[in-house]
Amino acid sequence: MNHALSRRSAFVSVIGVAAGAALILPGCSNDKGDEGVSATEDMMREHGVLRRIIVVYRESASMLRGNPADFDAAALGRAAKLFRTFGEDYHERKLEEQHVFPAVQKLGGEAADLVRPLLDQHNRGREMTAFLQSKCAGGKIAEADAPRIAQALESFTRMYEAHTAFEDTIVFQAWTKSLSEKQRDEAGEQFERIERDQFKGDGFDMAVEQVAQIERSLGLHDLAHYTAPPISVG
Ligand SMILES: [Fe+2]
Ligand SMILES: [Fe+2]
Repeated sequence: MNHALSRRSAFVSVIGVAAGAALILPGCSNDKGDEGVSATEDMMREHGVLRRIIVVYRESASMLRGNPADFDAAALGRAAKLFRTFGEDYHERKLEEQHVFPAVQKLGGEAADLVRPLLDQHNRGREMTAFLQSKCAGGKIAEADAPRIAQALESFTRMYEAHTAFEDTIVFQAWTKSLSEKQRDEAGEQFERIERDQFKGDGFDMAVEQVAQIERSLGLHDLAHYTAPPISVG
């Protein structure tokens, strides 16, 4: 089945809402691109994929500090590769650096001031991804390397959590508010085209599937694993 086509041909447009019920017609364009998500929603859900990799990184750091001999370095290598292809080569380079950041810089103000540190963080992230890929290439991590890799994973995690939070709440909001409805519509469609060109299909769906496989390899796929323990009384 052509998965990309099946999803993309199913786009809908809400043309009327009455008594809480939306009337939805297939095939009608709206201002949100053909998957029913705006450019900003698209980038924010991409952040969701990247944050799942970040969770893998943080958990991997803790595993490496505990028992590096049993650690699945190949799975961490696949996580770094996905961060490169989906996060760096597509989300950062093709969307943020080519479209969002230049527009936000012209707006000035708080969002524009964030562009420099955000670009610095993209560059630092790329250095760290290359480091992780080289250290994971053999499928095993040498015990002597484990503390340094764990530290790199933790500092990457710290940086990218702040990075995506500031983008979501300040930069993307300033950008989307500066666009007319027509421009938002065009941006949504343009971002969909870029995604299709980059991945020859639905890059988001592919990335979600890949991160889920990585989580399964490392035993990190159960959301309940992350539930905080109760606070002890007394
Ligand atoms: Fe970014
Ligand atoms: Fe981003």
